[in-house]
Amino acid sequence: MTPVAQKPATDPRDHLIVALDLPSVRTAEAVVARLGDTVSFYKIGYELGYAGGLGFARELIADGRKVFIDFKLHDIGNTVAHGVASIAQLGASFLTVHAYPQTMRAAMEGKGASPLRILAVTVLTSYDDADLAEAGYGADVATTVARRVAQAREIGIDGIVCAPTDAATVRGLLGPGRAIVTPGVRPAGAPTGDQKRVATPAEAIRAGADHLVVGRPIVASPDPAAAARAVQAEIAAALPPI
Ligand code: C5P
Repeated sequence: MTPVAQKPATDPRDHLIVALDLPSVRTAEAVVARLGDTVSFYKIGYELGYAGGLGFARELIADGRKVFIDFKLHDIGNTVAHGVASIAQLGASFLTVHAYPQTMRAAMEGKGASPLRILAVTVLTSYDDADLAEAGYGADVATTVARRVAQAREIGIDGIVCAPTDAATVRGLLGPGRAIVTPGVRPAGAPTGDQKRVATPAEAIRAGADHLVVGRPIVASPDPAAAARAVQAEIAAALPPI
């Protein structure tokens, strides 16, 4: 399949995606209300998604927000294609799948002509070489990531999710025109929590990331809108001039 160049984010706010890792729609609504017009893009993962979050995603989209569904799909091709088609109908902007060739092909088929962009997760950042060996793989993490990025590119995937510390390598393998989305972003001085391979927003952007996923440094801040604006200012200062 011939790769199709993706349009860059046109709303500068879209470079920041806030992770709504929250246990209920009620708590998510409160965070979104506090963030107001500062944030345009939200990520919904397992926790909120399985607690009514898909209905909430519909509301966010109806209110003009963009939504990233982080469900990391992987199943037989038929199931993936139909699941992706349902998420495309929801009006989501991004959806993650694991970077297995069959799964990526099925996801690209399932999204049809919708604007949904499929992001592939190459190797989970919680996996090291020993974990891959335990799972029966013969290759190490670096080799597996490189192989899967090449396969994703060949299949025409819309983007890759990776650690900010891997973004420059992934950009080199992926080429321009496809999205790189990085979690593990921490403003300088912010607590890292359980994230190990972290970078600041400026470092992530300079490494080639297009969208940064930030959760706790914004959601758990006493002033979430101010925290979001600080990250956006750092992103804006690091972006190359247009
Ligand atoms: O709160 P924090 O900023 O660490 O949230 C990061 C978000 O990105 C979480 O939703 C987490 O599940 C997700 N993520 C990650 N590391 C990965 C892939 C996804 O932290 N490798």
